[in-house]
Amino acid sequence: MLWFKAFHIIAVICWFAALFYLPRLFVHHAMTDDNATSERFKIMERKLYRGIMTPSAVLSIIFGAIVYFYNPVYYSSSAWMHAKLFCVFFLLIYQYMCWHYLKLFRDDKNTRPHTYYRVFNEVPTVLLIIIVILVVVKPF
Ligand code: HEM
Repeated sequence: MLWFKAFHIIAVICWFAALFYLPRLFVHHAMTDDNATSERFKIMERKLYRGIMTPSAVLSIIFGAIVYFYNPVYYSSSAWMHAKLFCVFFLLIYQYMCWHYLKLFRDDKNTRPHTYYRVFNEVPTVLLIIIVILVVVKPF
């Protein structure tokens, strides 16, 4: 079980690397007027979303589920796990919003300023802090 938990944490770290980096690309993409720079950002965003964010999200959930089903009665009756999965649901909504914004930039239809993406970029940090406290401290 510990091997699966280790792979779960590795996948989660990769997922968060992408969750932190992609919105940062959106900040700089929203600030540029140069077409060549914009085209380069489009390639970076697409590769990051398809090559790292999505596979690591899927692996985080698969390995998390494997660890969960080693002890389903305990985890399904743990309020901290319910709260954790609620936060994971928000992470998946956040990832969908990233996909939506990625397509707007791809089609040169983004109208939001870089300041919007700077605030948007902070959401995963808040969710990460809450999730790690829930799963390590198990406060309730
Ligand atoms: C659907 C998604 C997920 C499921 C089903 C899941 C499930 C689990 C389970 C069952 C454990 C073992 C908990 C224990 O017995 O101590 C665990 C550990 C852990 N999970 Fe997740 N998890 C998910 C997503 C995440 C996410 C998004 C994070 C991001 C921070 C995360 C971070 C961790 C950490 C740090 C541990 C190790 C805790 C410890 O060993 O003390 N998990 N996860």
